[in-house]
Amino acid sequence: MSVASTIKSRVSTAKFTSQWVNPEKIIDLLDVAVYAPNHKMRQPWRFVILEGAGKDKFVTNYLAQVKESEREEHKKLVMKVMMAPTVVAFIMKKNPVYADEIEDIQACAALIQNFLLLLEDEKMGSFWKTPKYIETEKFKDVLGIRYDELVLGLVMVGYPQVKVEPKLRESAKLLTTIYE
Ligand SMILES: Cc1cc2nc3c(=O)[nH]c(=O)nc-3n(C[C@H](O)[C@H](O)[C@H](O)COP(=O)(O)O)c2cc1C
Repeated sequence: MSVASTIKSRVSTAKFTSQWVNPEKIIDLLDVAVYAPNHKMRQPWRFVILEGAGKDKFVTNYLAQVKESEREEHKKLVMKVMMAPTVVAFIMKKNPVYADEIEDIQACAALIQNFLLLLEDEKMGSFWKTPKYIETEKFKDVLGIRYDELVLGLVMVGYPQVKVEPKLRESAKLLTTIYE
């Protein structure tokens, strides 16, 4: 597929099949995604793959940290993401310099888009999620995220049950002026 058609056919996948995804394959794709542009080669990222027994253990340990009265509600929220066969957490090292941190967030976003496009190329599905709980200490603790790191997002990964048509975008023709 050309880069253009890969970009235009990628959609967020709402429903995944139960087909297992080999974590080695995910690592191989991440190993390509890291060729994203990043200022001064800071490469401000790392990744945690949740799948199989590890994913179940994470859910159990996370819910154990939540008040019993709120557990059902949290379970629903967490399972919305953890229902995918594999979930990849994208972790960024915090940068004490504001302008550098903004650059690092942009570099991570470029890397995540690379990853989504590589999955699309493999006919795999993805859904980029940023639920509020990823910022909580409980979530970060259970996932093993250090105090100087941020969870930038979770990407659900698997094989799509159905191929969905992309949502049309406003044309760049309407958004662009040529400066004269
Ligand atoms: C940084 C970022 C965070 C997102 N977080 C969420 C989220 O928390 N929940 C959600 O349903 N979709 C989330 N999305 C996915 C968008 O809703 C989705 O990409 C958008 O509706 C366009 O649909 P498409 O991906 O099928 O083209 C996020 C996308 C980005 C780029």
